[in-house]
Amino acid sequence: MKTILDATSGSVLGIVGLFLVLLLNDKACDAGITSKYVRRLQASIDLPLDSPHFSIPPGHNAPEQVHITQGDYEGRAIVVSWITPSPSRSKVVYGITIGKYDHEATGSVTRYTFFNYTSGYIHHTTLNDLEFDTTYHYKLGNGTSAREFSFTTPPKVGPDVPYTFGIIGDLGQTYDSLNTFQHYLSSKGKTLLFVGDLSYADNYPFDYNVRWDTWGRLVEPSTAYQPWIWTAGNHEIEFRPDIGETVPFKPYAHRYHVPYLASNSTSHLWYAIKRASVHIIVLSSYSAYGKYTPQWVWLQTELAKVDRTVTPWLIVLVHSPLYNSNVYHYMEGETFRVQFESWFVKYKVDIIFSGHVHAYERSHRISNVAYNIVNTNCTPILDDRAPVYVTIGDGGNIEGIAGNFTEPQPAYSAFREASFGHAILDIKSRTHALFYWHRNQDGNSAVGDSYLLLNRFYSA
Ligand SMILES: *[C@@H]1O[C@H](CO)[C@@H](O)[C@H](O)[C@H]1NC(C)=O
Ligand SMILES: *[C@@H]1O[C@H](CO)[C@@H](O)[C@H](O)[C@H]1NC(C)=O
Ligand SMILES: *[C@@H]1O[C@H](CO)[C@@H](O)[C@H](O)[C@H]1NC(C)=O
Ligand SMILES: *[C@@H]1O[C@H](CO)[C@@H](O)[C@H](O)[C@H]1NC(C)=O
Ligand SMILES: [Fe+2]
Repeated sequence: MKTILDATSGSVLGIVGLFLVLLLNDKACDAGITSKYVRRLQASIDLPLDSPHFSIPPGHNAPEQVHITQGDYEGRAIVVSWITPSPSRSKVVYGITIGKYDHEATGSVTRYTFFNYTSGYIHHTTLNDLEFDTTYHYKLGNGTSAREFSFTTPPKVGPDVPYTFGIIGDLGQTYDSLNTFQHYLSSKGKTLLFVGDLSYADNYPFDYNVRWDTWGRLVEPSTAYQPWIWTAGNHEIEFRPDIGETVPFKPYAHRYHVPYLASNSTSHLWYAIKRASVHIIVLSSYSAYGKYTPQWVWLQTELAKVDRTVTPWLIVLVHSPLYNSNVYHYMEGETFRVQFESWFVKYKVDIIFSGHVHAYERSHRISNVAYNIVNTNCTPILDDRAPVYVTIGDGGNIEGIAGNFTEPQPAYSAFREASFGHAILDIKSRTHALFYWHRNQDGNSAVGDSYLLLNRFYSA
């Protein structure tokens, strides 16, 4: 195994040493670190519309913006989505040998308008009853405009199934976004956990939805080949009553399907899947979550279904962070924390990934659930049952870096740095996982923070 540059000490440690240091970090609440790394300042500007990364595939009515996601609860189905400029069938042919497509599935097509924009034909087709741990090749369209891709299904769900996830948030479509994306492409991530804020089309006048199409083409080199697990962020809301657009999440809902029915959810904005040794719960910061609301009822039921002897790892994705010590979006996740933190502690969630804040931050294992209005127990304390909170809204979008942390660094914050990047969660066994955050470092992918995650069910 390669040695890892531990930016927190600035020294190169062997993996054994690293494990020791990380083990200690997991127990002790040492003063947090605000990284001294100074990112070279450059404008975060969007790639131009004529960028080669946005190029339209050749051929008449060629499928474009191809993306896949898990299509069921356990990982034996995939939803294939793509867009064609003109009508065509929502048919996918597929098989385990390239060129020999002995299976086919046909899905459905949808379109939407947004102010004066009209989308292409958006196809969603589910491939069911796939074998676990198998590479499939698939083909969309026909004749000279046909396009072929492949994906690998996860191993059967079980407690001893190593697997590698990537994590990206708030990506957008700038030169920095491209940097982050290309670093992820060359990583060993097999499935991407996306923590919300995709295209930032809403940054343009009238939410210029052509920028949803360019984003779909930008990320296709990954999304056509591995599932991206979607979480909705505030930039997906697109609630614009001033221009007659009053249905929240309209473009996102049409373009990005998720398997919410498989976990008996009533909304695409919150759902759960099992993949390899992980139970992943996706939540919505921008839907009602108070007591008795549909999301609250669903989450209560879903948490009770988690069986840690089958899926030892429990991960939550939610756009707005519960713990964030950046000036930007400070305390926006507070009502959500008050509502759900006690459940996350009770069910020993291993790690919670959020975006929204355009910087990286990792917390110690802390909780703040003892407060009852009249006592004075209202400060986060070290808590072995509690999740680690990671804020990774540093994909590189047009709004730029959130470079202004609150001072002094709160005791709950273990490491924070205002740079763009992505993360990798490398699950090794039912008890151990390695987590790495890679800063883009102006072109070179480098490990900026690393952490040994000890499973809460087996260690706490
Ligand atoms: C394939 O081409 C034929 C003839 O152009 C067209 O009618 C049909 O819809 C196409 N099939 C798909 C899946 O696009
Ligand atoms: C949509 O409306 C905006 C503002 O009036 C205008 O600039 C743009 O050209 C229009 N686009 C289309 C496709 O009509
Ligand atoms: C969803 O509900 C149905 C009917 O109650 C039940 O049979 C099924 O097991 C549930 N699915 C999940 C994933 O909980
Ligand atoms: C950082 O945040 C503080 C507190 O809100 C504010 O006074 C200051 O102007 C901010 N600095 C920058 C560079 O945004
Ligand atoms: Fe956001």
